[in-house]
Formats: sequence, C-alpha cells, structure tokens
Amino acid sequence: MKHYLQFSDFGADEYAYLFERAALIKRKFKAYERHQTLTDRTLAMIFEKASTRTRVSFEAGMYQLGGSVVHLTTGDSQLGRAEPIEDSAKVISRMVDLVMIRTFEQTKIEAFAAHSRVPVINGLTNEFHPCQILADLFTLLEHRGANPQGKPDPAFLRGKTVAWVGDGNNMANTWLQAADILGFTVHVSTPSGYEVDQSVAGIRSSGSYKVFANPMDACAGADLVTTDVWTSMGYEAENEARKKAFNDWCVDQDMMRAAKPDALFMHCLPAHRGEEVEAEVIDGPQSVVWDEAENRMHVQKALMEYLLLGQQG
Ligand code: CP
Repeated sequence: MKHYLQFSDFGADEYAYLFERAALIKRKFKAYERHQTLTDRTLAMIFEKASTRTRVSFEAGMYQLGGSVVHLTTGDSQLGRAEPIEDSAKVISRMVDLVMIRTFEQTKIEAFAAHSRVPVINGLTNEFHPCQILADLFTLLEHRGANPQGKPDPAFLRGKTVAWVGDGNNMANTWLQAADILGFTVHVSTPSGYEVDQSVAGIRSSGSYKVFANPMDACAGADLVTTDVWTSMGYEAENEARKKAFNDWCVDQDMMRAAKPDALFMHCLPAHRGEEVEAEVIDGPQSVVWDEAENRMHVQKALMEYLLLGQQG
C-alpha cells in the first residue's frame, strides 16, 4: 500500500505514468466519455483548513470515477474535540477505501497514515502541497511539453527553469522536491526571513535550486514564473508584517519580460491581485491559472486510481 504524503513519495517513472494517465482521463472527460474505474469505492476527505479547489476537484473527481465521498471537517467531527489522530485513522480507514487530508503539521498526516489501513493523500499541509505541483507540472507539459503524439513528455522538464517568487512555503518546498526528482531547476527568491529550508523540503542536495535576493534575477530566462499568497493559511497573525516584507515580491510585467518570451505564469489560487501578482499578469496572455486549477481534478483522478488499482492499461 502506498500513501501520497509528499512529492518525493513517488519516482520519475510513476510521474511519467500519472501524467499520461491524467491526459487520457482528461480527454475522456472532455468527450463526455465514462471512466468509472473506482465504482463502489469511497473517499473520505478531511479538511482542517478551508478549501475550494481541493474539495471540488477531489469530490467531483471521485464521483466521476464511479465512487462516493464523505466530507469531514474539524468543526463537525470528533477531530475538533481532541480525539487522537491515531484513533481517527484506525476508525475511518476501516470504513472507506481512500483518505485525503488537509491539515496543519506534516507530522499529523504522517501519524494518520501510520495507523491507516488505506492509502492517504496530502491535500495540503504546512510543509507540502504535492497534488498542486502534480497539477502544475501536468499543466506545463500540456502547454509546452507534449511529444509529437500530443502526450505529456516529462523529458521536456530536464534542464528547464521554474522561478518561485514569494514565500518559502509549502508550495516552494514541493517545487524543490519535484525539481530534485524530475531534473529541472528552481530559482527561488524570497524576502529575508522567509527563505526555503532545504531540511524541511527534505532534499539531499542544493543542486536543483538556486537562491536569488532579487526576484527579477530569479525570473531571468525562466520557463515558468509562479508564486503564492504572501500569507498562507495558518499564518494570519503575521499578515501585516508579511505585507511589509513581501512588498517587492509582486510578480509584475517586468518580471515576466525577464523570463523567456514563451514563459508561462502559474498561481495555485486563491490569488490577491495587487499583492503577490499584478492583475495584468494573472489575467494576461501568459497566465494558465484556470487550466492549472482544472487540472487538479484530472491528475487527482489518475492519482486516486493509481493508489487503489496500480498502473492501468
Ligand atoms: N490551490 C488550492 O489548494 O486551492 P484551495 O485552497 O481552494 O483548495
């Protein structure tokens, strides 16, 4: 049994399979063709933080695969009344086939997985957001890295540059892991005091990322420029201090001009126009944020199928 708790839980071959499978699943979805490989399977979704995309993409995706979902939050379950996470894992995993959790510390999802009888998926923790980077990479391949047969070709990623502008947060950590596995480089630019921590990202060497004090320098020659909100969920008390610290880390048109002419812009959303990104960029021609959001569903359908059935086809 496999869990998907961080991006480094899978290897390059597994990602190649997932990208190709997600492309097939997406083609069938667009053609209104049924793809019900998880009939009668149940997904439990546990949310300890708010969500729009993660909830809709997992819930719609599981129904489309022929299964059903159970939705739990801290406020409407015993999770919010101090039932130990280990006990919750033992009980919930006796009743469902798969569990997706959005929570705070990575240690919490790891504790759940250690006591679960079924695969567990990370729907975002303070440290990682692997489903989002899975969707982002699929989107990049869809737009720029398809082979002559129109299939996503992960070899495209080797030697490419992703510019990360903003907080050294769960998204940044996950980009670092993805670069390490799939052979690209991340140019990271964060304000002082908000740097990425290689030990939190859990990568072995710094060979797959470079740090830049100036976000413009990080964007120079990049194939993809990406960012996230200045204040992630759980850090709201720091909001005012962060607004001051991050003032120069707004992705603007000059940064996009510094990147390659065909560079894409991504943002995992929700976005704050005028803070981490200018409206002209996120709503401009290089932005693929709506495909990026939609692709959460297609890649997660491939992921759920893989965790329950292994490789298909
Ligand atoms: N990007 C993302 O995870 O969106 P939600 O917080 O809306 O789920």
